[in-house]
Amino acid sequence: MTYNKKTIEDIALAGKKVIARCDFNVPMDGDVITDDKRIVGALPTIKYLLAEGAAVILCSHFGRPHNVLDAKLELDKKEKAKVEALPEAEQAAATAAFLDKAKNDDKKFSLAPVAKRLSELLGIEVKMAKDVIGADAKAKAAALQPGEVLMLENVRFHKKETKNDPEFAKEMASMAEIFVNDAFGTAHRAHASTAGLADYLPAVCGYLIQKEISIMGGALADPKRPFVAILGGAKVSDKIGVINNLIDKVDTLIVGGGMAYTFFKAQGYEIGTSICEHDKLDLALELMEKAKAKGVKFMLPVDNKLGRAYAPDTESCFADSDKMPEGYMGLDIGPKTQAMFAEVLRNAGTVVWNGPMGVSEWEAFAAGTETVAKAVAESDAISIIGGGDSAAAVEKLGFADKMTHVSTGGGASLEFLEGKTLPGIACLLDK
Ligand code: 3PG
Repeated sequence: MTYNKKTIEDIALAGKKVIARCDFNVPMDGDVITDDKRIVGALPTIKYLLAEGAAVILCSHFGRPHNVLDAKLELDKKEKAKVEALPEAEQAAATAAFLDKAKNDDKKFSLAPVAKRLSELLGIEVKMAKDVIGADAKAKAAALQPGEVLMLENVRFHKKETKNDPEFAKEMASMAEIFVNDAFGTAHRAHASTAGLADYLPAVCGYLIQKEISIMGGALADPKRPFVAILGGAKVSDKIGVINNLIDKVDTLIVGGGMAYTFFKAQGYEIGTSICEHDKLDLALELMEKAKAKGVKFMLPVDNKLGRAYAPDTESCFADSDKMPEGYMGLDIGPKTQAMFAEVLRNAGTVVWNGPMGVSEWEAFAAGTETVAKAVAESDAISIIGGGDSAAAVEKLGFADKMTHVSTGGGASLEFLEGKTLPGIACLLDK
C-alpha cells in the first residue's frame, strides 16, 4: 500500500484548535515511565503545531483499561461468566466488588504521568483534563490558547473508542478544528480517535506517520536491489501475511527464529523437540514453492544452537539443520548460518527485518540476532527494522542510529509490511 497523504505542513494552523492523536502507550512501572521514546517521538509534530500558532489538544490510549468513564460500567465477558457461576444471592455483591476494583485498577491507566513528562520535554505546562469528552475536557479545550497544550484522559476509558462509535468521535471532534494523526503504533486500529475523527474534521498526518509511510512505503514500492527480507520469530502463523506480500517484492527471503523449524519439518527433517506448527506444514511448503516460482532465493538456517530444555541456562550444543539430535530444541541459528546470513545482508541494497533469530532475551541464544543486527548496521543498505522484538534488540545493542529506519509500531509495522490498509492512515486527506 502506497500512501500520499497531506501532512501538517499542508494545512493552515495559525489560531486553530488541533486535536492530535499520538501513541503514548509507554512502558510504565507504577507511575514511572521506564522508556519515553514514544513521547520523544511525538515532539517534532507537537513543536511544529505550537510554532505555527495552534492550540494543541493531545489524545492517546494507554494500555487496555476497563471503561470507567462510560455511563454504565459493565462486567467484561470473563468476569460475567465467573459471577454467573456463583449462587444467585451472591451475584450482586460480586458484581459490585468487581466494578469497584475495576475503577480502582483504572487509575493506573491515567495519562497524567505522560502529561508531566511531556511538560518537562517541551518546557511548558501540559494541562491535564480529567476526562475525554466530559465537562472538564470541554471547558479546558474551549479555554485553550494558541501555543498551549492540553492532554485529554486515556481515550480507552470509554468503550466507544475501540468500537469507533461515531457519536463519541463527533464529541471529541467538537473540541477542535483540525485532526492530526501521528500515532503510527496504533494506525492499524480503526478506533474513534485514530480514524473516526477524520469523518468530522480535516485530517492530516504528523511527522512520525509521514516518516513511517515515506521510508517503509518507498522501500517496498521501489527498493534498491538486491532487496533482502529477513524474518524471524516463533510462529509461521504470525508471519504468513508478511511472507506472502514480501515474496512478490524481494530478491532473497531469509527465514530464521523458531518458525524455521516448521519449514524443516515440512521438508521431512527431524527437529527434535523444537517448536513446530504441525497444521502449517503444507503452508510452509507452499510458501517455499511460491518463492521458487517467483525466482526468489529462499534461505533457511544450515545449522542451529540447540538446548536440552526451554531455559536460559540449559545444556546446549550445535547441529546442522539436517542432523538435529533427539531430545534437543533449536533456540538460535548456528555460527555457519550467522556467517551466511551476514554475508547476504552486507551486500543488500535494501533490508527489511522483522523478528529475532532465536531466544534473543537469553544471552546463550542471542548471538544469531546480534550478528544479524550488526551485519545490517554495517551494510550500506537502506535498512528498515519492523517494530516489536527486532526494534528492541537493535536498540539494546546500540545499533538503532545505524539503521535507516526503526519503526515505532509493532503490530502496525507488521500490517504495513503485509500490504494491508492501515485505517489510521487511509482516513487522512490525500495530497
Ligand atoms: C502498541 O503498543 O503496539 C500500540 O500502542 C497498540 O496498542 P494496542 O495493541 O493495545 O492497540
